[in-house]
Amino acid sequence: MKNNREQWGSRLGFILAASGSAVGLGNIWKYPHMAGQNGGAAFTIVYLICILIVGLPVLLGELAIGRNTQLSPVGAFKKLSNASYWKWVGFLGVSSAFVILSFYGVVGGWTLRYTFFSLFGGFDALSGNSDSSAKIFSLFVSNDINPIFWLILFMSLCMFIIIKGVKSGIEQAAKIMMPIIIVILILLVIKGLSLEGGKKGLKFLFMPKFSDLTPSSIVMALGHAFFTLSLGMGTMITYGSYLGKNQNLISSALWVIILDTIIAMLAGTAIFTIVFAMGADPSSGPGLIFEVLPTIFPQIGGGVIWGTLFFFILFMAALTSAVSILEVITSYFIDQKGWTRERATLSFGILITIVGMFCSLSMGSFNDFKIIFNISFMDFLDELSSKYMLPIGGALTALFILSKWSVKTFLDEILVGVQTRKFDKGLLLNFLKVLLIVSSFIVGLIILNELFELFFGSSLQKIAGF
Ligand code: PFF
Repeated sequence: MKNNREQWGSRLGFILAASGSAVGLGNIWKYPHMAGQNGGAAFTIVYLICILIVGLPVLLGELAIGRNTQLSPVGAFKKLSNASYWKWVGFLGVSSAFVILSFYGVVGGWTLRYTFFSLFGGFDALSGNSDSSAKIFSLFVSNDINPIFWLILFMSLCMFIIIKGVKSGIEQAAKIMMPIIIVILILLVIKGLSLEGGKKGLKFLFMPKFSDLTPSSIVMALGHAFFTLSLGMGTMITYGSYLGKNQNLISSALWVIILDTIIAMLAGTAIFTIVFAMGADPSSGPGLIFEVLPTIFPQIGGGVIWGTLFFFILFMAALTSAVSILEVITSYFIDQKGWTRERATLSFGILITIVGMFCSLSMGSFNDFKIIFNISFMDFLDELSSKYMLPIGGALTALFILSKWSVKTFLDEILVGVQTRKFDKGLLLNFLKVLLIVSSFIVGLIILNELFELFFGSSLQKIAGF
């Protein structure tokens, strides 16, 4: 049967698109402040272990499922399981995409606004004044109109790229933006290291202090491993479905992990060298980027340029990730419902933008309207997706391979396109089996822990007394 499905134009194009999905707000915004609040390098070590033990097998699993079926998640699970209930894992992925993009787009809009804010010299008035910077940020996000304008702009760019197609849209955008992100980050790292006192930031990020590591930081590191690699909602199944049989999945997956990790480390280094050089607080949490950095950039030489470049790469990283999230939904409607790319992208892009508006308003006029558990709609969607939906989706994907698809078929799919055959297949099979069992087990335990805490107010680790 002839395959009419659009394919990536080149191997490099695919690796850049997949790492463009992985590299996003998670790397530049979330990782540095998580590390900052959870023991710096100690957190980084746990996070890296999670990436290798849990992230790698699930990433390989998703890519293999996608390439094998040449379908997006719902169709892929349906095809491999003879239309049994496993297709619901695919639906979970499509729903997670909807939930994540609803708040991701809002933060994407903020990055765009801060790029222009810096470009027009807006940070100058905030120099060294963290109180007014925090106030300006909070006034902005709680405004009913301003953030919605930037959200619409961000989502329009996202839809524009997707409508242009896999090769001329998604791949082309990643080919342009990813190298720019890497080059600018390296320049920012050099700048940070050249500042007096900046090297203290390196020590903070790379010298482990295990005493600062708590069980909850381990949970956080695991959840973040899924989020940062875009796992658990079928993004990599979708991207894998545009791959040809001649691609080496193992080396591609390793490239995605390496690029994602290097970029997170570069972002952490750039931020903490600058933060330490200027004597700011490294553990200031989510506000580190939008509240603290604008007070610091004006204090370093060429601050307008550095600040603008920083927020510009944050925006590009967010955009390439947002594109991959919306593509999960678009490809579902193309594959399963026969819709055109334009119809699927516009219908759901607009719908998500509308839900995003409610997210944004949940920090403004709708602030008093708390959904459940007394948190805003925006925080609710964030928690729901990164703590539950993605890890559950990832664990179910691992379970699907173990119990339905079979690790042997999975291995055969991975080995298509691998040139060297100098390895023990039996050993590899057992190794993959162990990794998949460990990842579904760890994730299962952690989700149980979270649910326990949510409903009974006490986590399993507290009950167990450690
Ligand atoms: N990996 C992206 C980040 O680190 O910001 C976020 C993300 C993209 C999560 C795509 C999930 C996803 F499917």
